[in-house]
Amino acid sequence: MGSSVCTLFLLCIVWLYILLFVEAANNVTYDSKSLIIDGQRKLLISAAIHYPRSVPAMWPGLVKTAKEGGVDVIETYVFWNGHEPSPGNYYFGGRYDLPKFVKIVQDAGMLLILRIGPFVAAEWNFGGIPVWLHYVPGTVFRTDNEPFKHYMQNFTTLIVNMMKKDKFFASQGGPIILAQVENEYGYYEAAYGEGGKRYTQWAAKMALSQNIGVPWIMCQQWDAPDPVINTCNSFYCDDFKPSYPTMPKIWTENWPGWFKTFGGRDPHRPAEDVAYAVARFFQKGGSVHNYYMYHGGTNFGRTSGGPFITTSYDYDAPVDEYGLPRFPKWGHLKELHRAIKLCERALLNNKPTLVHLGPKQEADVYDDQSGTCAAFIANLDDKDEKTVQFRNVSYTLPAWSVSILPDCKNVVFNTAKVKSQTSTVEMVPELLQSSMVSPNKDLKALNWEIYVEKVGIWGKPDFTINGFVDHINTTKDTTDYLWHTTSLFVDKNEEFLKKGSKPTLLIESKGHALHLFVNGILQASASGNGTVSPFKFKGPVSLKAGKNEIAILSMTVGLQNAGSFYEWVGAGVTNVTLKGLKHGTNDLSNATWTYKIGLEGEHLSLYDVDASKNANWTKVSEPPKSQPLTWYKAVVDAPPGDEPVALDMVHMGKGLAWLNGEQIGRYWPRKAPSDKCVKTCDYRGKFNPDKCNMGCGQPTQRWYHVPRSWFKPSGNVLVMFEEKGGDPTQIRFSRRKLSALCAHVAEDHPSFVTNSLQKSKANLELKCPMDTQISAFKFASYGTPTGTCQSFAVGDCHDPNSTAILEKQCLNKNECTVELTKENFKTELCPGITKKLAVEVTCS
Ligand SMILES: *[C@@H]1O[C@H](CO)[C@@H](O)[C@H](O)[C@H]1NC(C)=O
Ligand SMILES: *[C@@H]1O[C@H](CO)[C@@H](O)[C@H](O)[C@H]1NC(C)=O
Ligand SMILES: *[C@@H]1O[C@H](CO)[C@@H](O)[C@H](O)[C@H]1NC(C)=O
Ligand SMILES: *[C@@H]1O[C@H](CO)[C@@H](O)[C@H](O)[C@H]1NC(C)=O
Ligand SMILES: *[C@@H]1O[C@H](CO)[C@@H](O)[C@H](O)[C@H]1NC(C)=O
Ligand SMILES: *[C@@H]1O[C@H](CO)[C@@H](O)[C@H](O)[C@H]1NC(C)=O
Ligand SMILES: *[C@@H]1O[C@H](CO)[C@@H](O)[C@H](O)[C@H]1NC(C)=O
Ligand SMILES: *[C@@H]1O[C@H](CO)[C@@H](O)[C@H](O)[C@H]1NC(C)=O
Ligand SMILES: *[C@@H]1O[C@H](CO)[C@@H](O)[C@H](O)[C@H]1NC(C)=O
Repeated sequence: MGSSVCTLFLLCIVWLYILLFVEAANNVTYDSKSLIIDGQRKLLISAAIHYPRSVPAMWPGLVKTAKEGGVDVIETYVFWNGHEPSPGNYYFGGRYDLPKFVKIVQDAGMLLILRIGPFVAAEWNFGGIPVWLHYVPGTVFRTDNEPFKHYMQNFTTLIVNMMKKDKFFASQGGPIILAQVENEYGYYEAAYGEGGKRYTQWAAKMALSQNIGVPWIMCQQWDAPDPVINTCNSFYCDDFKPSYPTMPKIWTENWPGWFKTFGGRDPHRPAEDVAYAVARFFQKGGSVHNYYMYHGGTNFGRTSGGPFITTSYDYDAPVDEYGLPRFPKWGHLKELHRAIKLCERALLNNKPTLVHLGPKQEADVYDDQSGTCAAFIANLDDKDEKTVQFRNVSYTLPAWSVSILPDCKNVVFNTAKVKSQTSTVEMVPELLQSSMVSPNKDLKALNWEIYVEKVGIWGKPDFTINGFVDHINTTKDTTDYLWHTTSLFVDKNEEFLKKGSKPTLLIESKGHALHLFVNGILQASASGNGTVSPFKFKGPVSLKAGKNEIAILSMTVGLQNAGSFYEWVGAGVTNVTLKGLKHGTNDLSNATWTYKIGLEGEHLSLYDVDASKNANWTKVSEPPKSQPLTWYKAVVDAPPGDEPVALDMVHMGKGLAWLNGEQIGRYWPRKAPSDKCVKTCDYRGKFNPDKCNMGCGQPTQRWYHVPRSWFKPSGNVLVMFEEKGGDPTQIRFSRRKLSALCAHVAEDHPSFVTNSLQKSKANLELKCPMDTQISAFKFASYGTPTGTCQSFAVGDCHDPNSTAILEKQCLNKNECTVELTKENFKTELCPGITKKLAVEVTCS
């Protein structure tokens, strides 16, 4: 008896163990339709959020905002050069705390796609590969090359083991459902010949040997070997076919906007077109879709790729650089996700039938005998709307749009009809202040200190040679800066001295920018533009009789991050020629040049509050203006409130900034060209990054994000290194504030009850940012209101009780939904006319 109880008990234990084990082991598999997680097919909406592009204090909020936006999966690259600053020396602290980030995603009940790379491109410095690896003898990146493969395998294994240790793979009960090796190599493989093909096969095999229990993907890699899944990156992926018929259709990068370069325009992608692309993808059988980026964030410090990628990596993403949802994009996509999820069962279990409804109109119908049926009806016409008959019902389709019918009858969403609230944000300037200044003094008076960099060689020269060196080979990217100096003797009988004219100096450089000094005076600055690195400078220089000191400060502005053999793209001065002397042309390219790597201030760690305590800062009552090569330091208070903060640098030239030793990044309010912008953007038709440019004639980046978590209540140390000369008294902290929040919906707008196909009356949704609440209605009208946000006006038809009803339902709430029903409004007003509800609210 006793023994059988014992047996039973043991059996129970074994059974329990099996239960737990089986539950934990959610190995991820796939078939042609979808990923299969824990035996279940999944239709997944994913959002790229790169952990080092924000700060840990922002991570939970970003993940929460994604979840609220209807996202199931967070996707991130892994940033090798942030994690292995020198060989075998690893860093996983601060913004690079990958396990912490994964845990936050897991705790939010979300899944994760880990794109290890470790080459990532990503507009990230050197594509994410540590610069030191370029200098390991015999290394060629991204081909069948022993040192490269060794270090790549070593780092990939390190990351995999780290994830396994915390049981982060789905196969271990964790959130990671997919991992990526390499990145968009398919574009470049041919350039590497046979070595490229072998490398692709090696990378896949190396990844598979990591035994992670979830599938590996390679994006834009047409020859990815089975079972590694080739995935799509583009503005549209509806036509994409995986390399094998056994594989699901996965879109790893849908670009909802685009990145910026210093001196470039500000690209936008309309929400309607993003939604159109997503809906088309699911219409055509896609099952995993990722926004690249969902939150772009900030390239802090010198992490941006290049050349010339801005410090802001906002990307016009659904969540802005500062972590606030961008309306209407975020809201429109949230509604899209709801609509797609209503179709999940039909999409995942049925084969589509294509129905042609017109020359450019088509439906894909996912139905079966059991009665589940979902349909996507697309109008590919990029100009005109069209009315079509589908299953004996007539539907009017706006141009370039997809209607989603989760029951094959009712349209719950159309990609071109934006119902979401819209918002206007402004950067509200605050004077820099310091409570540490005596209260009697003018608050504006900060305690400024300065440190003036020497022009040319400070300290002991690094080396002297005839001619030029490659900039990157010399600095190894330990700094942006490389000094070159030479001296030039000018005979006192030179014509130009008598005439008072100036000779012309020509400089050729492989990139990226430079400042030219003669006898200690800044003569000119020059740089490449766009993503074109090489440039030529030609301009007059002031020379005197006798010895002249020529000093060139050459600079990198983010290293190349993609392309075949990109690590060999050099930078720096290649030719200096003087014209206008009596001996004609004077080629200084073979002169004796003396070099110094970096700035004295960098060497002294002037950005570091503690390390620079003993540095020779000079106290000034008023900081000098228009003075090149100057370090500025001021102790400042945190700006009031809790809105996100940025430094307004529009009155500065170019340089680097820090707060409390944290790297804000490169600033450079370089202006965009004044042409080729649009006033309003037409969402219709294929998007390209130049289609909806804004910001002409404006600085590409005026504001530089300073995360709130970097501030102390007082005594914050702001340090800037200014290269060209600016006016530091004009620097402001700007608070990113919502200046208006509006919503506008018509009573015939498709609406439905969340998570069911039951159609509801049209409704209007309002949500204030973060923890703020709806505090007032600046405008509310049910009837025929006219105008747009901030200029709404009451029309002929107006329910006088509109404001009272909205106040009753929404006041002091973070979010609320108001239905356009007869219970709420006088729907009998002006019969026969489609009525609308328009509101503008204040959040506080
Ligand atoms: C990676 O290389 C380091 C030293 O360079 C070594 O200590 C470590 O064990 C290697 N890791 C793996 C997973 O091979
Ligand atoms: C899950 O995958 C791991 C790694 O490939 C493998 O060892 C394990 O047997 C798999 N488990 C199940 C339940 O398939
Ligand atoms: C559409 O209408 C025709 C004739 O009115 C009818 O024969 C057909 O069954 C209807 N189709 C559907 C899908 O309701
Ligand atoms: C950028 O460089 C190109 C040539 O590479 C030149 O045509 C163009 O005018 C430049 N734009 C600006 C804004 O300097
Ligand atoms: C950098 O130096 C390496 C040798 O270490 C050389 O092979 C390479 O060509 C140099 N790169 C450039 C751009 O000059
Ligand atoms: C430098 O440029 C000048 C003018 O374009 C040219 O004559 C000279 O040959 C160049 N020198 C070198 C070393 O390339
Ligand atoms: C100048 O230097 C270049 C390389 O920088 C070399 O090719 C050329 O022969 C030199 N010319 C003279 C006149 O020394
Ligand atoms: C500090 O700077 C002052 C004036 O700027 C100068 O006179 C002094 O020699 C400097 N001291 C050191 C240690 O560099
Ligand atoms: C206006 O709305 C309030 C609150 O919902 C209600 O008490 C009142 O009766 C309404 N007045 C009219 C004229 O409908």
